[in-house]
Amino acid sequence: MAGPKILVFAGSLRTGSFNETLAAYVARKLTELGAEVTHASLRDYPMPLYDGDLEAREGVPERGQAFALLMSQHLGIFIAGPEYNAGITPLMKNTLDWVSRVDRGSAYKNRIFALGAASDGPRGGYRSLIHTRHVLELGCAAMVQPEMVAVSGASKAYDENGELIGPTAKVAANTLSALVANAKRYAA
Ligand SMILES: Cc1cc2nc3c(=O)[nH]c(=O)nc-3n(C[C@H](O)[C@H](O)[C@H](O)COP(=O)(O)O)c2cc1C
Repeated sequence: MAGPKILVFAGSLRTGSFNETLAAYVARKLTELGAEVTHASLRDYPMPLYDGDLEAREGVPERGQAFALLMSQHLGIFIAGPEYNAGITPLMKNTLDWVSRVDRGSAYKNRIFALGAASDGPRGGYRSLIHTRHVLELGCAAMVQPEMVAVSGASKAYDENGELIGPTAKVAANTLSALVANAKRYAA
């Protein structure tokens, strides 16, 4: 049986983004675990800042609808989100908000989410993980697995082969094997 389809994306557009690096690492590791991985960039899904008048006038922007469709085509979704002021980034929140307006947020249902964050700071963006979990679970009624990974000291977190070093590698491995196992359950 083919591995579960898993979507990976980062909540940053920055060139050299630590979270994009984490997303690429996660995509590679999930592929090694047998998942069928799509690594998307939010750069390909530009959306205006949510505006109720705009939605009333024109509906959900085409890119918002396209991203909701992309999410709904996967059984697992890994989000690598930066931490801004202890919380979720505007890019991430705006994307999640627009997706919640498509088909009453159906893209959040019947699939499993896993979270990661990366920061050069000592906490690795841990607080944004909690905030993203809050938004997804309480706001979007999504299932978010308990296992998650925060990459601290992100500029020095990988060896010369691109492997995470130290205890974070084990946390990442546990997070990703749980994600594959959880996504498989949704295939039934
Ligand atoms: C407005 C703003 C607020 C930030 N707040 C935090 C923070 O609370 N905690 C943290 O670890 N890093 C914080 N940072 C630093 C980001 O972690 C850093 O810019 C990181 O590189 C962003 O992720 P990226 O590399 O994927 O773009 C903040 C950065 C910005 C621009």
